[in-house]
Amino acid sequence: MHGKINKTMANNLLKGKKGIISGALDSNSIAWKVAEKCVEQGAEIILTNAPIAMRMGAINELSEKINAPIIPCDVTDNDQVIELVEKSKAHFGGKFDFLLHSIGMSLNVRKGRDYTNLKYDWTHKTYDISALSFHKMIQACYQADAINDWGSILGLTYIAAQRVFPDYSEMAESKAILESIARNFGYHYGKKSKVRINTISQSPTVTTAGSGVKGFDDFMSFASKMSPLGNADADTCADYCISLFSDLTKMVTMQNLFHDGGFSFTGVSSDVLR
Ligand SMILES: NC(=O)c1ccc[n+]([C@@H]2O[C@H](COP(=O)([O-])OP(=O)(O)OC[C@H]3O[C@@H](n4cnc5c(N)ncnc54)[C@H](O)[C@@H]3O)[C@@H](O)[C@H]2O)c1
Repeated sequence: MHGKINKTMANNLLKGKKGIISGALDSNSIAWKVAEKCVEQGAEIILTNAPIAMRMGAINELSEKINAPIIPCDVTDNDQVIELVEKSKAHFGGKFDFLLHSIGMSLNVRKGRDYTNLKYDWTHKTYDISALSFHKMIQACYQADAINDWGSILGLTYIAAQRVFPDYSEMAESKAILESIARNFGYHYGKKSKVRINTISQSPTVTTAGSGVKGFDDFMSFASKMSPLGNADADTCADYCISLFSDLTKMVTMQNLFHDGGFSFTGVSSDVLR
């Protein structure tokens, strides 16, 4: 009997909630799993991604599968971000409850230019796509008063914001900025309407963005050996996101939360020494 009650509750952690999920590109994307789990847990969602991602097709499959509309938005264009928030409010018939920022891309990494030889036009664009877009999305919500009291905003980050991972290159600064935006806007949005803002610092994960980093496979294996629980995958990351969108984590804000199987606090491990 108790088991039954718990199961029912567990399946409705986001019942009655509405939110925007950015960054689902294909079925490997962390955002893809978050979108699926949000709907499983009773939420109503809108998907968004850059127009170029629409043309690749996979997000349309997800949209049909979970019956969620797509609102295209290139986050480098602030007008499109403002429009995304307006259209979302119109679709939901009012305010919504959560937002996932799951967007990252480095032009220098993608085009093979090392950290010691950056092309700065590209670096600006990297920061704009990967970090400033978080501020833009939050500011658009804040100014339109689009999020209900006790709503939850999440961004995805990586531990290269704190420690050196040489091949992560200019994405390290992008993530440091992203995490700082969560803290600083978390203060203002918390004061205004109790909206909480956090970042989840995720293990290396096999996705389009992840595999762009040089030597990614070797690195995945190293990270796994350094993590007592092994690497956290996209599926468990999505579970963590659900918990942070839910009412069970209402007083958590302005935090960078490690979801990494223990990697961040492990100095050395027997598997690495072996
Ligand atoms: N994969 C990893 O190892 C890992 C580890 C820690 C954190 N993260 C972070 O998780 C987030 C999601 O990445 P992922 O690994 O799921 O990869 P992904 O490639 O599936 O997702 C990145 C998304 O960013 C979108 N995007 C790029 N430019 C955009 C723009 N101008 N406007 C709107 N959207 C744009 C892409 O279309 C894509 O959907 C990123 O912030 C990434 O840095 C990833």
